[in-house]
Amino acid sequence: MKYAASRLAQVKPSASASVSLHAAALKAAGHNVIDLGLGEPDFNTPAHIVEAAHQAALNGETRYPPTGGTAALKKAIAAKFSRDNQLAFAPNEIIVSNGAKQVIFNAFMATLEAGDQVLLCAPYFGQYKDIVLVLGGNPGTIACSAAQGFKLTPEALEAAITPATRWVLLNIPSNPAGAVYSKDELRALGAVLQDHPQVMIMSDEIYEHIVFDQQQCYAFAQVNPELKDRTLTVNGVSKAYAMTGWRIGYAGGPKALIDAMFTVQSQATSGACSVAQAAATAALNGPQDSIEQFKQAFEQRRNLIVERIAHIPELSLDPPGGAFYAFIGCAALIGATTPSGNTLQSDIDVTQYFLDEAKVAAVAGSAYDLSPFVRISTASSIDQLDAAMDRIVECIKTLTLKK
Ligand SMILES: Cc1ncc(COP(=O)(O)O)c(C=O)c1O
Repeated sequence: MKYAASRLAQVKPSASASVSLHAAALKAAGHNVIDLGLGEPDFNTPAHIVEAAHQAALNGETRYPPTGGTAALKKAIAAKFSRDNQLAFAPNEIIVSNGAKQVIFNAFMATLEAGDQVLLCAPYFGQYKDIVLVLGGNPGTIACSAAQGFKLTPEALEAAITPATRWVLLNIPSNPAGAVYSKDELRALGAVLQDHPQVMIMSDEIYEHIVFDQQQCYAFAQVNPELKDRTLTVNGVSKAYAMTGWRIGYAGGPKALIDAMFTVQSQATSGACSVAQAAATAALNGPQDSIEQFKQAFEQRRNLIVERIAHIPELSLDPPGGAFYAFIGCAALIGATTPSGNTLQSDIDVTQYFLDEAKVAAVAGSAYDLSPFVRISTASSIDQLDAAMDRIVECIKTLTLKK
């Protein structure tokens, strides 16, 4: 019996989830594993947000919510876009979904014809590619090297666009590299896109608040207002407010696109959980101090990792400008021999070695379509990160490096 449809054949389970499963199995077997695989804040959702959900449930907000989002949450999102990004969206230009991931799925489901190309900037959040593949689209990769700060350049964008290109997907700041774009850089990308009117822009700005060194994060549509009618600005509360489990994401974009995404959502999940929408409303409307606290904690951790990696000659890391990951170059470890005589042939082997020998779980760069790198999440305590670095230093010492 063939259960899975053939369109699923190209899709692999999420690499970070597989690493965490493996790490959990080792933990269950009694090993002391430090899991730096998963990308979620290690903080609790602020209490006033939880309380808003509690009150909403007690007040009877327990029935089917409107498919595209409650009026209160859409109002809060419109106010957030205006406050943080100077973007004006009417309620019918906003949609609320079960996480940013569903927003992205809905947008591609609503727009892609078979073979339509979606340009992704490697290294990228691996699920972008899988979503495109499962929907019959054609993911195109633009490699953005460490030398260019893992950022898309106007030249590379221009060279990659073809008549089949339907979307270009930007992620600002990016997972896994933490790349933050300046206003001028975003304008230059916008200038290229002006000449390609068939291309839509998806700008995933879910890490917008986690930017370091007093930098500012700009929304693509804010800097390129003339492209607003073909830009979908994706965001959510998962990362900004430590709300990954509440599953609320949202987007602002042209009404016709939002309508099409609404149609998809109405056939799949209907509206996102009513109580979680009340919580997200409180998050966006309420005190914003937790954003600053989380950012400071992530910056301290980023600084620690940058400092530790600077003292490991076999690894390299330019300070990530934002998000809560470190995308660490490990080219010097490729070709090294382990004490048991195996050769590390790829970054997948390197992460496997770190897990087996150091009991540190990380994700291979190949999961983000750029090798050889290792991504660690810095959403762990300073002590855990320090201990993980100690272990990595020790396990690298046991390797015989390729000459
Ligand atoms: C770049 C990026 N976009 C979207 C998501 C998904 O966010 P959500 O929890 O809102 O579905 C993630 C989660 O790791 C992410 O890294």
